[in-house]
Amino acid sequence: MYRLRKWEPGDADRLLEAFADPELAWQSPSVPTTPEQAREWIVRTRVLAEQGRAFGFAVVAGDGPVLGHVQVDVTSRVFDTGWVSYWTLAEARGRGVATAAALLVSEYAFAEVELFRLELGHRLNNPGSCLVACRAGFRPEGIQRAKLRYGDERFDTGEHARLATDPVEGVAARPCAS
Ligand SMILES: CC(C)(COP(=O)(O)OP(=O)(O)OC[C@H]1O[C@@H](n2cnc3c(N)ncnc32)[C@H](O)[C@@H]1OP(=O)(O)O)[C@@H](O)C(=O)NCCC(=O)NCCS
Repeated sequence: MYRLRKWEPGDADRLLEAFADPELAWQSPSVPTTPEQAREWIVRTRVLAEQGRAFGFAVVAGDGPVLGHVQVDVTSRVFDTGWVSYWTLAEARGRGVATAAALLVSEYAFAEVELFRLELGHRLNNPGSCLVACRAGFRPEGIQRAKLRYGDERFDTGEHARLATDPVEGVAARPCAS
C-alpha cells in the first residue's frame, strides 16, 4: 500500500513538519526551517535525480500526505554501488513505512538505476533502523568505527548491504550492536 513518488513543491509544509522533530533534525546534515528552505530542499532533491546522482522520494500511502523520505545516492558508477538512507515522520513510525520504503527504493535502484550493491549504515544505538535494514534484505556486514558525526559527536555504525542478487528473505534481525 505504500508507494514512492517525487517530492512536489506543495509538500514543503509537510517537510517542515518532519524536520521539526528533534529526533530527525539532530542527525540531518541540512535542516530546512523556513518555507523557502523547504522548497529549495525539494528542488535540490529533484535536480540530483535529474543529474543521476541521487534519487530521493517521498513515501506515501495512496494519495495521502507524505509519511517519510527514502533516497539512494549513487556512490560509484565504476562499481555500480549506492547508499540508501531513510526517515519517517514521527507520527508515521512503527507502521512499516521505512521498511516498505527501503524495499521499494532497492527495487528501483536495481531495476532503473542499474546499481548492483546497495549499502547503508546506522548508528549502533539506532536499533529501529537496524531492524528496517534487515527486513529490507540488507545483510549485516560488520561495524565501522566513528563513521558518522552529528554535531560534535562521532558514532560507530552497523553496516549493511544488499546485492541485486540477494533475496529479501533470510536476514536474521540480529542487532548489529549485540
Ligand atoms: C529509524 C526510522 C527510519 C524507522 O522508521 P519506521 O517507519 O518506524 O520503521 P518501521 O515501522 O518500518 O520499522 C521499525 C521497527 O523498529 C522497531 N523499533 C523502533 N525503535 C526501536 C528501538 N528503540 N528498539 C527496538 N526496536 C525499535 C519498531 O517497533 C519497528 O518494529 P515492529 O514493526 O516489530 O514494531 C524512524 O524511526 C526515523 O525516521 N528515525 C529518525 C531518522 C533515522 O534514524 N533514520 C535512519 C538513519 S540510519
